[in-house]
Amino acid sequence: MLNKKIEAALGDQINYELFSAYLYFGMAAAMEDLSYRGIAHWMRTQANEELFHAAKLFDYVYSRDGRVKLPAVGQVASEYKTPLEVFEIAYKHEQSVTARFNKWYELCLAEKDHVTGSFIQWFINEQIEEEDNIKTIVDRLKRIVDNPDALYKLDNELATRMLAAYVNLINTSAPGA
Ligand code: FEO
Repeated sequence: MLNKKIEAALGDQINYELFSAYLYFGMAAAMEDLSYRGIAHWMRTQANEELFHAAKLFDYVYSRDGRVKLPAVGQVASEYKTPLEVFEIAYKHEQSVTARFNKWYELCLAEKDHVTGSFIQWFINEQIEEEDNIKTIVDRLKRIVDNPDALYKLDNELATRMLAAYVNLINTSAPGA
């Protein structure tokens, strides 16, 4: 059975992952409004990644005989002026997610719950990629801020993003994998 402090922390994180999904849906809406359809697609995919994270945490809590409460998800913006603004906010947000998982991992150590600590490590590792992907896009956007052609190309490139779980499925079912 889950320790109550850890159950509360995981519940809080489920709420934050759902908030993250909501945040990225808001960014997708803003990018649709500005006709950056590739970036909107990228943000929609990111929102789906966050829903997957929430579900993974949810399933873990019940697998350890815990219980999930579902308080309201916070309000988000759905208007932004530029792709750079959107990705800079997304980058700060992912840094806050990383800080949270580090805090939950320390809580697991303090409470001597090594099973949950091991589970949390999956998310800590995931954050390396989450931060890196977004930071790379921020850097690229800064370089092309006054170049509409380059921005158009980047928008097209971001339209090709696929959900990580789907990519993993393709890779593991490929011949010779
Ligand atoms: Fe679920 Fe983007 O961290």
